[in-house]
Amino acid sequence: MQPWTSTPGSAGVPPGSAGPVHTVGILGAGRVGTAVARQALRAGYRVLVAASGDPGAIELIVEVMAPGATAVTAAEAAGAGDVVVLSLPLRKFDTLDPESLRGKVVVDAMNYWAETDGDMAALAEAPSSSQMVQAFLPGARLVKTLNHIGYHEVESDHRPPGVPDRRALAVAGDDREARATVMDVVERLGYDAVDAGPLAAGAALEPGTAIFTGRHDRAALERLLERAPVPAAR
Ligand SMILES: NC(=O)c1ccc[n+]([C@@H]2O[C@H](COP(=O)([O-])OP(=O)(O)OC[C@H]3O[C@@H](n4cnc5c(N)ncnc54)[C@H](OP(=O)(O)O)[C@@H]3O)[C@@H](O)[C@H]2O)c1
Repeated sequence: MQPWTSTPGSAGVPPGSAGPVHTVGILGAGRVGTAVARQALRAGYRVLVAASGDPGAIELIVEVMAPGATAVTAAEAAGAGDVVVLSLPLRKFDTLDPESLRGKVVVDAMNYWAETDGDMAALAEAPSSSQMVQAFLPGARLVKTLNHIGYHEVESDHRPPGVPDRRALAVAGDDREARATVMDVVERLGYDAVDAGPLAAGAALEPGTAIFTGRHDRAALERLLERAPVPAAR
């Protein structure tokens, strides 16, 4: 068996979810990708990390930044990941391979930063960045989350379930099963997962929003989501 081959896991997931998550594939070996990789390893997942090219180019980075994870190609991370995390610069979303993500539960952790992403015509036409990504990846079961936490906080802010100040992260996606699966992953990473509803609600998690700019527990996040209008157009 190849090191990146997925096998059925025994992690309990909510009834009706898309199945047990054993392997997390991460597309993007930068700040967010390696932080999520470390936290996912801590949670007990098998973790495969890819950048845009040859895995040999990130082997050392992965070994140092996320010991226990395996550097693979993007196709391998997408193919073997029960959940695949997008942690690449948003401007590069169209370098993803839609076929490799068809049918996959995909976490969109990306944000638009004008300073680094520049002008993005496709984004200007989309109601939200995640809906733009979903349109490019029509077969993917896209779920937005992990975008409104700093990469440096992914490890420092995690807490066990039931702790009063446990940080909450919103989870938005059109596929209910995929959303439930990702909510379970978020919980296992050490956060209260709050169901934000459809992918369009991801607009309420984007940079500049009250949700994005703060650190919230479940009650506060639920209040903010209730108040957040989902814009029909950007
Ligand atoms: N920084 C934060 O605290 C934070 C928090 C939440 C969300 N985000 C969002 O998360 C995303 C990543 O941010 P970052 O700070 O981690 O970026 P980063 O440090 O610049 O890393 C980006 C990574 O993406 C890889 N990549 C580019 N195209 C790829 C592709 N097609 N397939 C697989 N990997 C690819 C790059 O590899 P190559 O070198 O091969 O191009 C690099 O490893 C951004 O959208 C950002 O807005 C950031």
